[in-house]
Amino acid sequence: MLPRTEFEMAENIRDFLVASCGGRMVGCGALHFYTPTSGEVRSLAVDPEFKTHGIGRRLMEELEAEARSHDLCSIFAFTYVDRFFRKLGFEEVDRGELPLKAWKDCLRCPKFQACDEIAMLKRLRPGAPTAALAHLNQVTDSAPLPVLRK
Ligand SMILES: CC(C)(COP(=O)(O)OP(=O)(O)OC[C@H]1O[C@@H](n2cnc3c(N)ncnc32)[C@H](O)[C@@H]1OP(=O)(O)O)[C@@H](O)C(=O)NCCC(=O)NCCS
Repeated sequence: MLPRTEFEMAENIRDFLVASCGGRMVGCGALHFYTPTSGEVRSLAVDPEFKTHGIGRRLMEELEAEARSHDLCSIFAFTYVDRFFRKLGFEEVDRGELPLKAWKDCLRCPKFQACDEIAMLKRLRPGAPTAALAHLNQVTDSAPLPVLRK
């Protein structure tokens, strides 16, 4: 969980899904589109009082459904709770498989020189390439007209 500026919060607010219970926010998670075919699960957190009641799983299921509805090939996360992600069908990958991450976010991260987070990836379409950079190259090589959806 990284510190975020107000500007970053505003910029990414539409990525977020929140879980509430009796009007109280008890969890959140975000799906950030990284390339046209891969997304990152970010800022997943459940209020400590409400942990282990299935809220994290529900948030993840909704975020994954959103990713599938946008035809993403894979979703990934950087985490310390790899066992939670394994339960949800993610597998550990070499962080080198997600090269854009390093350039887009990690350079600003206080842990950049000593990152010990585990890279976890879930393939939503079997056989699809996993490298975020590969996805981007494919799209820029043969960019079809975009389909607009809300
Ligand atoms: C990780 C986190 C989101 C899980 O939320 P949660 O609501 O407690 O998780 P759930 O109750 O939905 O658990 C789903 C499954 O994962 C397992 N699980 C949950 N947390 C786990 C953990 N830390 N280690 C191993 N397994 C875990 C549960 O036992 C459950 O398994 P089951 O379905 O076989 O019973 C929550 O612990 C949290 O907010 N952690 C701090 C923030 C964080 O590390 N976020 C991840 C950033 S990427």
